[in-house]
Amino acid sequence: MADFAQQYSLYTSRFINLLSAAISKLTIPEHRNILLENLNEESGNYEEDELRILNHHGIDPRWIKNIPHADLFNRFKEKVTQGKQETPLSDDAIIWYDMLSMVLLYGSTEEAIGALGIGTEHVVSTIYPYIEKGLKHLPEIQPKDYCFFSVHTLIDDDHAESLNQIALTFAETEEGRRRLRQGATKALNLRAAFWDGMLARAYNNTKIIDNNYNSTTTQVSGVAQDEPTYIN
Ligand SMILES: [Fe+2]
Repeated sequence: MADFAQQYSLYTSRFINLLSAAISKLTIPEHRNILLENLNEESGNYEEDELRILNHHGIDPRWIKNIPHADLFNRFKEKVTQGKQETPLSDDAIIWYDMLSMVLLYGSTEEAIGALGIGTEHVVSTIYPYIEKGLKHLPEIQPKDYCFFSVHTLIDDDHAESLNQIALTFAETEEGRRRLRQGATKALNLRAAFWDGMLARAYNNTKIIDNNYNSTTTQVSGVAQDEPTYIN
């Protein structure tokens, strides 16, 4: 969990840059306003009815109000990395962020919307509940510590829906649909590669732990020396 928090923090700390890049491509004021609302939420500003919904699901508004999402993630990261050694960012984390940035900065508007909508906001609210489910089983971590995930699970469906509405206006031509599809596929493939890398790191760490536990002197093949040696 500590390793995941460190590797994932590159994406969460800079997500606002990705969103801003997409906004800069939009020329229709209604489209820009929709994403500017998302940007506002990223900075910790919520509508009253959103706060009510979140409160209803156990998220105390004081935990999140006026707190940028990057800071919410840092709260989680600090909690799970307490007393653990810091690990360098993996190639997978860096490649994911760098290449997704390229799509949003230098791709077409349709590609950017495909990447941010179907390829990002749409999948987050289905991925984070699994992470939350695991965290709920760790008694040392409290709901306030991991509310970054709860907030996104509860409000990102709205973001996905608003991005769908924007995408529809670009989906009227074959070329528009092709670009939307390519943007979404790029974002999904990059995220999948990140998770595959995380899985490999977790397996490698398990091998290291098992190896140490069994007190064998055999070196586990393929395990990089700078890999973190902790896993929850
Ligand atoms: Fe967010």
